[in-house]
Formats: sequence, structure tokens, C-alpha cells
Amino acid sequence: MIGLDDFRRVLGHFASGVTVVTARDAQGRPVGLTASAFTSVSLTPPLVLVCVDVKARCYPALYASDRFAVNILGAHQEALSQRFASNIDHKFEALTPHPGRLGLPMIPGALAHIECEKVGIHPGGDHTIFVGRVEAATAHEGEPLLHYRGRYDRVLSALSTPRRSSPMSVPLSRPPNDDEIKRAALAAIDSGQYILGPECREFEAEFARYVGTRHAVLTNSGTAALWMAMRALGVKPGDEVLVPSHTAFPTAEAVLFAEAVPVFVDIDDTYTIDPKDAAAKVTARTVGVVPVHLYGHPVNVDAIRDLAAQRGLWMLEDCCQAHGARVRDQQVGTFGRAAAFSFYPSKNLTVMGDGGALVTDDDEIAARCRRLRDHGRLNKDVHAELGFNLRFNDVQAAIGRVLLRRLDAMNDRRRALAARYGAALAGLPIELPREQPEARHVYHLYVIRSTRRGELAGFLKERGIQTGIHYPVPCHRQPVVERLAPPALPKTERAVEEILTLPLSAGHADAEIDQVAAAVREFFER
Ligand SMILES: Cc1ncc(COP(=O)(O)O)c(C=O)c1O
Repeated sequence: MIGLDDFRRVLGHFASGVTVVTARDAQGRPVGLTASAFTSVSLTPPLVLVCVDVKARCYPALYASDRFAVNILGAHQEALSQRFASNIDHKFEALTPHPGRLGLPMIPGALAHIECEKVGIHPGGDHTIFVGRVEAATAHEGEPLLHYRGRYDRVLSALSTPRRSSPMSVPLSRPPNDDEIKRAALAAIDSGQYILGPECREFEAEFARYVGTRHAVLTNSGTAALWMAMRALGVKPGDEVLVPSHTAFPTAEAVLFAEAVPVFVDIDDTYTIDPKDAAAKVTARTVGVVPVHLYGHPVNVDAIRDLAAQRGLWMLEDCCQAHGARVRDQQVGTFGRAAAFSFYPSKNLTVMGDGGALVTDDDEIAARCRRLRDHGRLNKDVHAELGFNLRFNDVQAAIGRVLLRRLDAMNDRRRALAARYGAALAGLPIELPREQPEARHVYHLYVIRSTRRGELAGFLKERGIQTGIHYPVPCHRQPVVERLAPPALPKTERAVEEILTLPLSAGHADAEIDQVAAAVREFFER
């Protein structure tokens, strides 16, 4: 028999993808370890085996569990692999696993998630082979982390091929796309119920519960939610509504559709509505205020709420960029009379297409919006008022339900990537996003600021890095409101010349963020 060191040396001579095997212990807590072998043993039925160390602290829990998951790690997850290979107690600290279809803990950012029912246990020396029947599996694009010649390696360097001279391209946002999402959509198609059916009803109940409101009314865009809200709030021609100018145009468009006057307000240091400027712009005709939690950062809710209370205004929150953002543990969307959400593909919560929801605690507003989204119908045959077709569909609702379950984990991932940018970009002559102490930013967009914005964007583009400007033309400078002759907004006008959105979404890898940050640093340090 050969000695242990020789055996290790030979084993380590062959590349193998690094996997972390996860399960839940008897109390439902996630456990996991880095496993040395993973392979398929049968195609029909689909069987895989993993080989786990019997000395690992979580071995008894893995042994006792009747299911396990295999997470194939990406090239950027070396630290995570080391963590799971160690015998520390809290391997999941600062790592929120998302639940898989069997409820198993999935490692965020892994290249593949394979969920298995355990069908065989074969002890062999200091390792045990678990055979699993694959019940669910998802795979994502990316480069696997290898273990080769006794150390972590990458596919390209392991093959001794020179790295590509131009690095990979980095998109601004990468919406989720995996088998669980596709399965949900297919099941909804098979159900034969397509519009405002059971998936929509479940999504409405689950989304209302998530936000913490009595009602959620699904509709086909965030714009539609804002439009319905204006009608349900009774906005009349000539009414004035306070809106930030620095927002997506639909915020102001909803006011204009109601033939009311958008009164444009300047921004504060978090790029959201400035309460002082809002207060200064209230007149006898002002009926309401639409604060926008822009980029995922909550507005100064206390100040806006006080203003609304003092001046008798309603408050409609535009949460289209802020699903899951909080102020002192209270979700945005619960501070005003109603709130609008968008589920557009790049949003923190998407339905893989257009979609939106209005949430409220007000029974009358909810009932009115349910009517408005369906031609003002009271019932099948009676139309009480003019509405429109703003209904939602079950295929997208089914997708929304899958992604809602992952929303907190996806927001945690966005926050972790924002922190990564923060550390990597510190000290450069740029302004980084700010987070107020009581606010939980969910980084729908990661927006930096530079007086050399144009040059920097060009430099990044040459390196395959996509950037954006949200938004280059503020609402008060749009031709469609020229007739209102809106006054200048100095902070907004300066910001739109300097802001630049860098790539960030829950689907980005650490390595991509590092690549962008390194390019930004190179630009300033050349
Ligand atoms: C702040 C804000 N309000 C409203 C909207 C409109 O949402 P939708 O595109 O779903 O109509 C958006 C979407 O981009 C937005 O970002």
C-alpha cells in the first residue's frame, strides 16, 4: 500500500472541480463541507456520488439527512471552499444560502446546484460515499474552481494556455435564469390558467406578506401601478404633486396622465427627494408627494412623512427600485397611503419581463385598483368606470413567486458586492454611494460620481465593461414638461453630469466586480 502523502500527490495531479455538499441538520440549520469527489454514476435514473470525510464536524448531520445538495464552486469562490474545508463552527456566517426546491441550503454564486435524495451510503475507510438521486439541478455560466497539483487553480492556467488578453465583458445587470424559474413558468403554462389566476393570487398574497401590507394588486408594470394609484387617490386636473426630478420618467408621467402638475423637487446626498426643498414647494394646490427610493436607497422617510402629515398630503412611495429596502427594519412600501413596485428584468425582484404591483393597507384603494386594472369592472358584465387592461399573467407570477423566495438572499448578495466595490474603490477621486445609518440600501444600482464621467465610461467600455447613466436628462428638463417652465434644480443638474452606474446585480461574480474596480483604479492611477 502506498503512503498517505504519495496517495495525495497522485490524486492532486488530476484536476477536479471543487464542490461543497450541503444539507440541513435536525434543527433545520444549514451544514456543509468541501467534498473531494463528485461524479455521476448513472444517467437513468440520474445518480451522483459524493465522497465525504467522516471526521468532518457536520458529518453526523449529513449522514442523518435523507437529502443533500452538491454546489459546484466558481473560480472566484476559493475562500469559500477553504472555509467549508475547515472544521470551524459557523461556516454559514455572513453567507445567506438560498433555499432550493427541496429546501436544501444553496451556496450563492455557485456554478451549479444539484439537489439529491440520498439513496445509498457506502462507508469506506475515513470517507463515506453518499449516492444521491438527482431531483433538481441548475447550472450557470462561469468558470469552475479547480483543485490541481495540490492547490486551487483555474481552467485556463491549469491547461497552461495564456489568458485571453481582453478580459470577459461585464454587463450592467445579469437577471437570474435557471431551471427552477423555467420549471415554474412551464407549470403555469400547463395549468391552463393564464390571467389573474391562482399563481397571480398566490403572488399577491406572498408579496403583500413580504412587504407587510394588507393588499398587493398585481399589474403589468410599475408605470401602471403609479397610474392606478393616481386615480385611486383621486388626483384631479390642476392638482399639484411633489415629485423628485431625479428619477425614471414614469414617476412624473403618472402625475401628468392624471392631468395634474408635477412640482419638481431637488435631491439630497443620497440622490433622493430633499425634504427641505419639498416643504418649500408646497402650495394650496398641493395634494400629495411621491418619494422615490432611488437606486435602492430609502428616502428620508421621517421628514417626508412629517411634511405630509403637517400639510395634509398623501404619500405614494415609488418603490420600483427598492424591493426589500428598509428603514429601521420597516420595509419601504409601508410608509405611505400606497406604494408602487416594478418587476422589470433588471430590478431586485423581476418576473422576466414587464410587471408591477401596487401595495396598500387601504381596502378602498386596493378595491379601486383591482377594478381599474380590469376595465373598471365591478363584475363580469358591469363596468363602473373607465379603466384599462392592466392585468397580470400567471406565467410571470409563477416566476415572481420563485424569485420572491430568493429576494432577501439576492439583496444580501447585492450588498456584499457593493461592499466589495466600496473597499476596492476607496481613496480614488470619486464619490461612492452613501447609506444613511437608519437605512438598508439594496443597491438596485451602484452609482458613483466623477467629474471625468465621460472619459471613465469610455475607458471602461473599451475593456468590455458596460456602464449606465441613471438618468442623463432629469424629468424637469424633459421636452414634454417644457410648457410648465419648471425652475432650475441645482443639485440634480450637477449630479446628472457626473453620475455613472457600474455593473452590479445578484448574478455578478466577485471576480467581475474586482475586474471593474481594477479598471476604474487603472483609469485614475495611469
Ligand atoms: C423609479 C421608477 N419608477 C417607475 C418605474 C416604472 O416601472 P416600469 O418600467 O415597470 O413601468 C421605474 C422603472 O424603471 C423606476 O425605476
